[in-house]
Amino acid sequence: MQITMRTGSPERARVGTVAVGAFVDGTLAAPAQAIDRASKKRLSAVLKRGDLGAKAGATLLLHDVPGVMADRVLLVGLGARDAFGDKAFRDAVTGAARVFAAGPSKDAALTLSVEVRGRSLEWRARQASRMLANAAYRFDAPRAKKPRERGARTITLLVADRVTPELTSAVRQGRAIAEGMVLAKDLGNLGGNVCTPAYLADTARALGKEFKFKVEVLERADMEKLGMGSALSVGRASHHPCKFIVMHYRGGGSKATPIVLVGKGLTFDTGGISLKPGDDLDMMKYDMSGAASVLGALKTAARLALPLNVIGIVGAVENMPGGNATRPGDVVTSMSGQTIEILNTDAEGRLVLCDALTYAERFEPDCVIDVATLTGACVIALGTQASGLFANDDALAEELLESGADSGDRAWRMPLWDEYQDQLKSNFADMANIGGRPAGAVTAACFLARFAKAFKWAHLDVAGTVSVGGDAKGATGRPVPLLAEFLLARADEAAA
Ligand code: BES
Ligand code: MN
Ligand code: ZN
Repeated sequence: MQITMRTGSPERARVGTVAVGAFVDGTLAAPAQAIDRASKKRLSAVLKRGDLGAKAGATLLLHDVPGVMADRVLLVGLGARDAFGDKAFRDAVTGAARVFAAGPSKDAALTLSVEVRGRSLEWRARQASRMLANAAYRFDAPRAKKPRERGARTITLLVADRVTPELTSAVRQGRAIAEGMVLAKDLGNLGGNVCTPAYLADTARALGKEFKFKVEVLERADMEKLGMGSALSVGRASHHPCKFIVMHYRGGGSKATPIVLVGKGLTFDTGGISLKPGDDLDMMKYDMSGAASVLGALKTAARLALPLNVIGIVGAVENMPGGNATRPGDVVTSMSGQTIEILNTDAEGRLVLCDALTYAERFEPDCVIDVATLTGACVIALGTQASGLFANDDALAEELLESGADSGDRAWRMPLWDEYQDQLKSNFADMANIGGRPAGAVTAACFLARFAKAFKWAHLDVAGTVSVGGDAKGATGRPVPLLAEFLLARADEAAA
C-alpha cells in the first residue's frame, strides 16, 4: 500500500475512486462542490434524494459522474456540520477506507478539506494515512489458497494548497504507525503453536537486523543467573523455553536517557494449574499483544529514525499446566529480592513483568511504560474503548492520556492508591500475586508498582483493547498508535 499527498483538484484526479465529503444538511465540502460544479449539480441531486446515510462515515458510490476524470465518486457522510470533531473525522475516513479496501479500484484519492476543531492539517494527514494503510490489512498467511488481491494499492491524499515538508512527513508518520500496527496484528493473530517465545525472539532479531539496532535474547540459564525466579515460575511446564528479549534502539544521543517499553509476551495463557475454562480460550493467543505492541512501536520509531533512545523489553513465556508446573501456594523469589506467594497461577502476567521492571532499572530510564493484557477486570471496567492507565507520575500519565486522545487510541486513568496494597497481603511471603475480585485491575497494577519504585512508570492494561471477538475476530494493533504518538511527541521535544 502506497499513500502519498499531492496538490490537485478532485474532478481532475485520474483514479479509480475519488472520495469527497458532504454534511447531513446537504452542504458539500469544498472538493465535493468542485465535483458538483464539474458534473452540473449531480452530487446535489443525488443528495436531495436522500440516499446517503445521516451518520459520519456513511458512504455512497456513484458511477459515471459527468465531467469527472475518476471512474467513481465516493460520497462520504460527514455528519452534522457543527459536530465535526475527532470522532466524525475518524468515522468519515474509516468509511472511505473500508470502501477503498474492499472495492475494485486499484487507486483512489481522498480529500481532507474540512477542518477539524483544534486539529492541524498535519494531524489530519497523519491520522488519515495511518487509518487508510491500516484498513488495508488482511491476515491470510495460513490459507492454502491466497485470496484474490483486492482493494486500492495506491491512495492519494488530495489537498488544495501546497504540500509542505511537514505534511509529507505527517503522511510518512501515519504510514510508519500503520506498519507498526501491522506487525503487532500479525504477531497477535498467529496461533500459539507458531508465535512461540522463540518466534517473538526471532522477530525481534529480524527487526534489529533490518534497522541496525542491538537485540539481546536471554535464555533460561541467563534468567536464572539474574535471579528472575518470578518470571521463570510461569514458563516451567511449557515445552517452549522462555525468552527474555531486550531491544536497543538508539536514535538519540549517547547521553539521552532511554524510554523503556516493557511488553507482556505470554504466547499462550492457559492459566496453568489454575486452568482457565474452555470458552473463548483461543483468545489467549492474544496474551502476547503487549509485547507485539512494543515491537510495533519500536518498528515505527526505527522506520522514522526518531531521535530518541528506546529500549524494548519483552518477557516471552507460555503458561501451561504440567507435572513441572508452579502450584498455587508456591513461593518464589523475584529478581528484586521480594518474595511472592502464588495463589493463582493464572495471574501470571505480573509475575513476568515484575522481573522485567527490575531489569529495566539498569538502564536508568527516563521513564518505563509497560503494556500488558493483564486483567479481565480491566475489560469489565473499561470495555474495548479504552486501555487502563496506571502511573506513579502525574506528568507521565497526562502525556500518555494526551497521546491516546490525539491518536484516537485512548486510555483512561485508574487509581494506584496505597490503600489497595492491603489486598495483596500474604501470610507466607512479601506479597500474594492476587488481590481478590474487587478492583482486580487496580490490585494487579499495585503489584507491579512495588517493582517500579526506582523510576517514573506507567502501566497500560490493554486486555480489552488489543483484540476484538465475534465476526470481526482479530488483533487491533493497539496500543501502537498511542505509543507511537507518545514517541513522536517526545521526538518533537528532543528536536526542539
Ligand atoms: N491474560 C489474562 C487477562 C485477560 C483476560 C486478558 C481476558 C484478555 C482477556 C491474565 O493473565 C489473567 O488470567 N488474569 C486473571 C487474574 C486473576 C486470576 C487475578 C483474570 O483477569 O482473571
Ligand atoms: Mn492468566
Ligand atoms: Zn495472561
